Amino acid sequence: MKKTSVYIETYGCQMNLADTEVVLGVLNSKGYKVADNIEDAGIVLLNTCSIRENAEQRIYGRLGNLKKLKDKNPETVIGILGCMAERLRDDLVDKRKMVDLVVGPDEYRRIPEYIDEAFGGGKGIGVKLSRTETYDDIIPYREEGLSAWISVMRGCDKFCTFCVVPFTRGRERSRNLESVVEEIKQLSERGFKEVTLLGQNVNSYNDNNRDFADLLAAAASVDGSIRVRFTTSHPQDLSDKLLYTIAEYPNLCNYIHLPVQSGSNRILELMNRTYTIEHYLNLIGKAKKIIPGVSFSTDIISGFPTETFEDHLMTLDVMEKVRYDGAYMFKYSAREGTKAYKMEDDVDDTTKTKRLNEIIDLQQRISYEVNQELIGKEEIVLVEGFSKKSDLFYSGRTDSNKVVVFPINKEINVGDYVRTKITRATSGTLFADDSNLVQVRSVRESITA
Ligand code: SAH
Ligand code: SF4
Ligand code: F3S
Repeated sequence: MKKTSVYIETYGCQMNLADTEVVLGVLNSKGYKVADNIEDAGIVLLNTCSIRENAEQRIYGRLGNLKKLKDKNPETVIGILGCMAERLRDDLVDKRKMVDLVVGPDEYRRIPEYIDEAFGGGKGIGVKLSRTETYDDIIPYREEGLSAWISVMRGCDKFCTFCVVPFTRGRERSRNLESVVEEIKQLSERGFKEVTLLGQNVNSYNDNNRDFADLLAAAASVDGSIRVRFTTSHPQDLSDKLLYTIAEYPNLCNYIHLPVQSGSNRILELMNRTYTIEHYLNLIGKAKKIIPGVSFSTDIISGFPTETFEDHLMTLDVMEKVRYDGAYMFKYSAREGTKAYKMEDDVDDTTKTKRLNEIIDLQQRISYEVNQELIGKEEIVLVEGFSKKSDLFYSGRTDSNKVVVFPINKEINVGDYVRTKITRATSGTLFADDSNLVQVRSVRESITA
């Protein structure tokens, strides 16, 4: 075991994945090294998620396992990072005495000090939230690869009544535009081909009056062979300017993750989502007009307090109307400290599960149908590697984030863009028989070209 060797497991959303790279960036600059396996590590950190109860249960389970490691090597520092650090500091440190270190999302800069405290026999605790911290100047630690996450804003001011994020991540704040552009330049030099700009609410990005559309335009202009993705968009602030910007730049992906949560206006209001279904569908219609071929994914919660069978049917109805490419679908989980926690969690678990299953089945059918419509069409694909099932096939993604599997070919390498013609499709994967290299000037070289 080496005191300068660190092992991190990451749970939760992409923001956490990006934060883990920031933490490793901070630690790297102080001489810490990433451990190849957990047994060699002097420091074991879990970057945690609080979004639903089962996310937290999983971490408690994992901490139980880590106790064995600690019994074998009592010197090992075990720490919690991320959203649970904010919510459960007292429980983790005082009551259950499970960890030596608890550091929340805005205190990663000081993590080396907290580690020193923990090695010194104390508890390293930093859970203050900040109104300004964006880690602008920290170079995240990234392995070589094709795709990178870049967090461009932090926190959330929306306060949806079911959600812990405003409490675990604090107020909204945006990174400086130039620092994001600089980071993309460096990634471009290292051969990266895709960046995803991240924020709980990226449309609220604002840096000295430069909004998210300005940031996307600047990001897309760095290198035409880098695809730019972004997530998550809130329906309240998806502006026309943003839609026109996506349409204008070929390397801004035609794909918008736009969580709807419910199809019922009454439930949306109880959730404090600040839009109606009419507004939402209108937005989708407008986006489809402005951005030819745009596709959507969404998040849906089933069984929010007071949800009736009619409300549930309205959710199914919106899904039919939008025809999402994909969806993340969840059972409502009451979270202490949120407004909805005070409402009675009155939809019983059997009903929640039944509704969730209906939502999942419907999405499965829609994804299948949407993909069938692509048979015979050409798609530009970024080659990511061998397919999961066989080294005789490559797998890559389209502009709209769909996986395409196609035969390997001597001329084609990982990181290339190829044109494929779709011959077969399931609900999750497209298949092509052949592929041709595309000279990259623009990565969405029009399908008609
Ligand atoms: N900022 C993003 C994502 C937040 S968390 C957004 O606004 O869309 C990702 C998803 O988890 C949410 O969209 C929501 O569908 C789900 N979620 C959040 N809190 C939840 C809860 N208490 N129970 C069930 N699902 C929840
Ligand atoms: Fe949570 Fe709503 Fe903020 Fe998304 S917009 S992080 S769901 S409070
Ligand atoms: Fe989970 Fe925190 Fe992300 S609660 S979803 S890790 S912002």
